[in-house]
Amino acid sequence: MAYRVPFVNFKRQYQQLKAEFDKVFEEVMSGGDFILRRHLVTFEKNIARFVGTKHAIGVNTGTDALYLSAHALDFGPGDQVITVAHTFVATIGAIVQCGATPVLIDVRDDFDMDVDQIEASITTKTKGIIPVHLNGHACEMDKIMELAQNYNLVVIEDAAQALGASFKGGKCASFGDTGIFSFYPAKMLGTAGDGGMICTNDDELARKLRALRDNGRVESADIIECFGWCTRLDNLHAALLNMKFRSFDKWVQRRREIARMYDNGFAGIDGLIPHPNSDGDYFDVYQNYVIRCKERDRLVGHLRKSGIEVLISWPTPLHKQEALQLSHFSLPMTERISAEVISLPMYPELTTEEVEGVIEVVADFFA
Ligand SMILES: Cc1ncc(COP(=O)(O)O)c(C=O)c1O
Repeated sequence: MAYRVPFVNFKRQYQQLKAEFDKVFEEVMSGGDFILRRHLVTFEKNIARFVGTKHAIGVNTGTDALYLSAHALDFGPGDQVITVAHTFVATIGAIVQCGATPVLIDVRDDFDMDVDQIEASITTKTKGIIPVHLNGHACEMDKIMELAQNYNLVVIEDAAQALGASFKGGKCASFGDTGIFSFYPAKMLGTAGDGGMICTNDDELARKLRALRDNGRVESADIIECFGWCTRLDNLHAALLNMKFRSFDKWVQRRREIARMYDNGFAGIDGLIPHPNSDGDYFDVYQNYVIRCKERDRLVGHLRKSGIEVLISWPTPLHKQEALQLSHFSLPMTERISAEVISLPMYPELTTEEVEGVIEVVADFFA
């Protein structure tokens, strides 16, 4: 079914920036610059400068960025790592793939880690915390970093959805030992495929991460510093991302405008819990605009029937996914959210008329 308002619209973005996209392709192909070349170096510098970290290391995916971080920070058997279940599976996967044990705590009604539950979950085996800045909204990083310091824990920020978001003036991915981003197409800054980035201020860690992403090689192809993986951000993707990054601030501004339109359109609708409103200490970038409704499935049906494509992230919480063997955790807020959430279309290319159309269809459901 062709939706009147699709959930993403990559084709529209390509049409709008066609000349620039085509120029990037021409430049990279005619230069033969494919692996660990200058566009990647430039993109890493751009991201490091933007986030405010000393280093940024381009990798294959956000998933690999998490896993390499966990590996470089020595997560292993016997270690416990605190994170949330209301996230993409890769957050918990990074812990498990290293042989460590995930300890899941609940989220608040802003969908982020409930920082008040962290301390009670810390044991002598706790090695680290992975806060997830979901939907482009930062976690309360001052409290998380204070606990990490007090208990000597490492922190990996999962900022896959939060490029540009900040808390008390600090950008997401700049607080922890590492912070990671995803450049999956639908993300804040998406490439034409997969991509990821690890940010850190630690020189040693940065060197280790660079080695891990390129089969143990850092400066010379002849000297192998460790066993690693092959998970580099392709130069073509880096070149595309550099080009798109020039529009990034403008796109964030447009996302925030769309969020205000949705906020105003949904204000006062009985039975609809609007996207959490947060200014002050938080700068939200609205990777996703998420509403909640007790009659979620009926509302989803109504939206889809009316030509509005929506997404549910995520209908089954990770601790309820049988294969993952995490069912011993009790996370009431996570479960409630999973039963109620709907992500509405949210991307800079949405027209004002389309946003108004979405609002009208939602309002019509509750009328
Ligand atoms: C919160 C979160 N963490 C990690 C990832 C993994 O990123 P990637 O898809 O680039 O591997 C995603 C992507 O969906 C995500 O949303």
